[in-house]
Amino acid sequence: MNKYDSPTIIKLDICDSTNEYIKKHYMKIQDKFPLIITSPEQLKGRGRNNRKWFSPCGTGLYISMGFLMDNRQKIKLLSLIAGLSIAEALETISQKEFKLKWPNDVLYGKRKIAGVLIENIINVNEIISICGIGINLNQSQKDFPPGLRQKATSLKMITGQAIDIDTVTITLINTFFKWLAILEEGDKTKIIKMVNDLSVFSKGDPISFHHNNKIITGFFNEINREGGLILEKKNGNRDIFYSGEINLEI
Ligand code: BTN
Repeated sequence: MNKYDSPTIIKLDICDSTNEYIKKHYMKIQDKFPLIITSPEQLKGRGRNNRKWFSPCGTGLYISMGFLMDNRQKIKLLSLIAGLSIAEALETISQKEFKLKWPNDVLYGKRKIAGVLIENIINVNEIISICGIGINLNQSQKDFPPGLRQKATSLKMITGQAIDIDTVTITLINTFFKWLAILEEGDKTKIIKMVNDLSVFSKGDPISFHHNNKIITGFFNEINREGGLILEKKNGNRDIFYSGEINLEI
């Protein structure tokens, strides 16, 4: 048995944000980690870079998982594991192929189906890492806000079938904990190989990249062993980034 066996699962009926729920209540639920919170609806769902995550009732999976982490290196890889677990779980359910846009957006073709928001609570002796996942499941194109209609997709749009949210939840949790056990065993190579195999960008693809309010351009090289993005410049120099967002169009 490893320390990630037997998570506590709490199913809420509604909340502002499942990430926020763990942040607010973690003192009371200290002994319950790993902790999984789901909610059929979020009133203030949050995405990366202060964006909102559109979270109406019954259309998506909104889930946060909280872990006590002993190692900062592992937190970087936790973020990658989240993306690859979503891609693998969705493939298991639909037999379709999903790709990753570093660090952890999940795409079908060029459209986003899922995203991950990692937040950490850093205390003197411990780090609580909260991994929030949103997956679009039963939306039709018209259900997305106008600005997202050409960029987002859902599993129902891809398969043409209504999706059972509980099935996706269970498949995702099982896949995630499988990869977490691989991380615990220290098999970084397996994780990084899978992340590179699933990348929507191949070596040499031109990319433009938002980092600290700047746009940086270069060529995608690969994701390194620490989960960083290696970007090759025109002059052949390489930079490594641990945060930021790659644009899909160039
Ligand atoms: C992104 O911007 O791509 C990340 C989206 C993350 C959304 C999920 S839904 C569950 C959890 N609770 C939140 O408020 N956000 C994350």
